[in-house]
Amino acid sequence: MQNIDLKQYIRGIPDFPKPGILFYDISTLLRNADAWQLATARMAHAIAPWQPDQLAAIESRGFLTAAPLSTRLGCGLIMLRKPGKLPGETISLTYDLEYGSDSLHIQADAIHSGQRIVVTDDLLATGGTLAASVALLRKAGANVVGASVLVELTSLGGRDKLDVPVHSLLSYD
Ligand code: PRP
Ligand code: MG
Repeated sequence: MQNIDLKQYIRGIPDFPKPGILFYDISTLLRNADAWQLATARMAHAIAPWQPDQLAAIESRGFLTAAPLSTRLGCGLIMLRKPGKLPGETISLTYDLEYGSDSLHIQADAIHSGQRIVVTDDLLATGGTLAASVALLRKAGANVVGASVLVELTSLGGRDKLDVPVHSLLSYD
């Protein structure tokens, strides 16, 4: 299993969620216990040198990568959530989408000022979601030391929106 190319566990589904889009479906990787274990091991190996105090997880599919990575790395996990989901005082950031806008929230007391945070998500596409997450984390006092994703769609140039080191396990043109 060690030398295996994990791309074989990800399938491309054409015309989802709309015509002309090729959707990289990670469900088939998640379903395979050995492949998923290897994927999280490799991601954790790449993140470890950044020495995070906490991981930040972006709702919803970012929760999938964050949970196993935080236990592997021995650090805590902070949720970045869609509006109306987090109790107590929150800090929020609204960002533009192709059509309309979206918001992410974090609990106001989630981060001690200057804590080293790595943010993780399943996918880096245009980079809008991760860039907003980095901005929100900084607003909450974080020192964002890196971003980690399972899949990167390189042709969309999302990485260029980020001013932190980015590790992607699998990349597609
Ligand atoms: C998807 C994906 C990333 C984001 C990447 O999330 O999980 O979070 O899009 O796109 P970007 O780089 O262009 O911002 P989505 O908003 O579809 O929601 P989900 O995670 O709740 O499924
Ligand atoms: Mg998402």
